[in-house]
Amino acid sequence: MALIAPSILTADFLRLGDELRRAKGADVWHLDIMDGHFVPNLTFGPLLCAAVAKASEIPVECHLMVERPQELLPRYAEAGARRLIVHAEATPHLHRLIAQIRDLGCEVGVALNPGTPLGVIEEVAADLDLLLIMTVDPGFGGQSFQPRQVEKIRRARELLPKALIEVDGGIGPNTAPEVVRAGADILVAGSAVFAPGADPQERIAEIRRSLHESR
Ligand code: DX5
Ligand code: ZN
Repeated sequence: MALIAPSILTADFLRLGDELRRAKGADVWHLDIMDGHFVPNLTFGPLLCAAVAKASEIPVECHLMVERPQELLPRYAEAGARRLIVHAEATPHLHRLIAQIRDLGCEVGVALNPGTPLGVIEEVAADLDLLLIMTVDPGFGGQSFQPRQVEKIRRARELLPKALIEVDGGIGPNTAPEVVRAGADILVAGSAVFAPGADPQERIAEIRRSLHESR
């Protein structure tokens, strides 16, 4: 069964501890790190990552949507991130960046924007623990799922029989079944889990139900 990784981007930050406790059924915390340069939005940094890692037994992954990720990776490793995900578009030296993450003792993830061909990771495919296929243009929560990415997930599954395939953007009960059928192992869900007035536990259960029902 696919794992669910709630993105805290749309959670209530003033009550974050409470939001995390209410999101029962989460398998991974997905932290969206944005620097206002690689993407036109700015979020949070290593201090928040450390606070989440300390507050919960559930592993934390950091999705770095930043320029010069090599300068920031050590901070997130120190902050307790289990997995570090970097964008292939953020570096001309993807192989070096992967080695750096490995040396920091973290699991290695690489993310691809919707407009980036799968071929850019072909030569490093064997070095990846996880490939993150973006199903929206990164930068904001609550955007619409791009259905054309489903075919890319299918091809990624063939190219990477052993690595985890994660999908991020516009995932909820309506889109989860088709990405899992295409080969996704981990579903990032932001606004489908954390929304004003929503019960995060119930929202996670709803995504799982959609997967059961479509089997
Ligand atoms: C987008 C982020 C996603 C996003 C997911 O730049 O990487 O993790 O917050 O949010 P939803 O599920 O609302 O599309
Ligand atoms: Zn993300």
